[in-house]
Amino acid sequence: MLGARRLLGALRLCSSVSCPRPRATAKLRVRDALGVQDASGECVTVQGWIRSVRSQKEVLFLHVNDGSSLESLQVVADSSFDSRELAFGSSVQVQGQLVKSQSKRQNVELKAEKIEVVGTCEAKAFPIKYKERHPLEYLRQYPHLRCRTNALGSILRVRSEATAAIHSYFKDNGFMHIHTPVLTSNDCEGAGELFQVEPSSKIKVPEENFFDVPAFLTVSGQLHLEVMSGAFTQVFTFGPTFRAENSQSRRHLAEFYMVEAEVSFVESLQDLMQVMEGLFKATTEMVLSHCPEDVELCHQFIASGQKTRTYAKKQLPNWGVDLQTEHEKYLVRHCGNIPVFVINYPSELKPFYMRENEDDPQNTVAAVDLLVPGVGELFGGSLREERYHVLEQRLARSGLTKAYQWYLDLRKFGSVPHGGFGMGFERYLQCILGVDNIKDVIPFPRFTHSCLL
Ligand code: 4AD
Ligand code: MG
Repeated sequence: MLGARRLLGALRLCSSVSCPRPRATAKLRVRDALGVQDASGECVTVQGWIRSVRSQKEVLFLHVNDGSSLESLQVVADSSFDSRELAFGSSVQVQGQLVKSQSKRQNVELKAEKIEVVGTCEAKAFPIKYKERHPLEYLRQYPHLRCRTNALGSILRVRSEATAAIHSYFKDNGFMHIHTPVLTSNDCEGAGELFQVEPSSKIKVPEENFFDVPAFLTVSGQLHLEVMSGAFTQVFTFGPTFRAENSQSRRHLAEFYMVEAEVSFVESLQDLMQVMEGLFKATTEMVLSHCPEDVELCHQFIASGQKTRTYAKKQLPNWGVDLQTEHEKYLVRHCGNIPVFVINYPSELKPFYMRENEDDPQNTVAAVDLLVPGVGELFGGSLREERYHVLEQRLARSGLTKAYQWYLDLRKFGSVPHGGFGMGFERYLQCILGVDNIKDVIPFPRFTHSCLL
């Protein structure tokens, strides 16, 4: 095994600098090319897909996009380059000089010296048509092609930035990242919306489970995070979660990403709410500063075109009855269309792990949901029941004592007051971008009757 110092030395030795490659013009991403100040004829190569072609008598204008930014790079070429293959959707490699543009619309343009068509695009058969703004619903039929549109390009860039921002927030605030398992033998929420996992028939041993116990796709990483919170005071996980909900709704998926955090030594919901708010604000600020044009496109062309919905429910349900989406939206509207925390839910509506409120035992638990405009529930969290005997009684009442013995154990060995939450990542994107349907903010949506690709 290498020690840290020798490992560093070995890495330096492996540097590719020692095996020089043939000199080529610098390869630039479109975003980087567009960002060049005072371009003065640098020789560069750009690769991407043609977004538009305009042919004039002596010049040919192409716009090339490589997914690195909403804006495309203008390529100016001599009309002798014009060919049928240089069409919308074709992939190209362009070599030329980066120069200051004559036009006020862009800072720089690429004066082409060589244009190579890497792959042609059959315009007639291509479901994405030149200069058309396709509805998101139409694009959903083409999960293998829709990322080539401006709308999906922007949404997916924001998704990527938001993912990085979430990791930064937690890192900057002293949280440790935990890879919680996708396969699990527990049912965290007890809600029965599980996908069971079995080997395919060839290796299936009759009457036996592969793992000796039934295994499921996780519905939440919470219980595994709680294990970790017995050794690390601040932990988080961010991964796919699965729910076999028979729902085609605008805010449910069978596979979605959840951001979950668990904090040890917290005794009040306020402390948790601060982390939830901090995460939401820091992530959104970072997205806005890194890709403002993408957010703007969503607000201008997607959010504005969506129907204003009216809700039948005009008042809240009686105590003890769960809030429906309509109630959540009514509450948000009632409070002035801003995010709203709802706390202290009736115990019978919530899972066994939520902490009973000391001033209202057996009636309410220290649960918190954050409801947001347009979406409803975005975060769900709670303080966890850390008192051995109270938890033991709650498990017994739900008939779960045997299955959750290990969970009770956590309360036997150095138990601490703790709490955590989960945020639906797709719902977060819907909220900040104003996208009506959750199927449009995930690259490959999975829901009842649909698992395309
Ligand atoms: O409220 P939920 O069910 O909470 C939990 O799973 C907790 N164990 C989390 C925790 O405390 N660590 O789910 C959390 C969030 C919801 O508020 C919602 O935003 C999102 O996950 N969510 C879904 N998003 C898309 N499709 C679904 N089917 C979703 N179900 C929940
Ligand atoms: Mg919930």
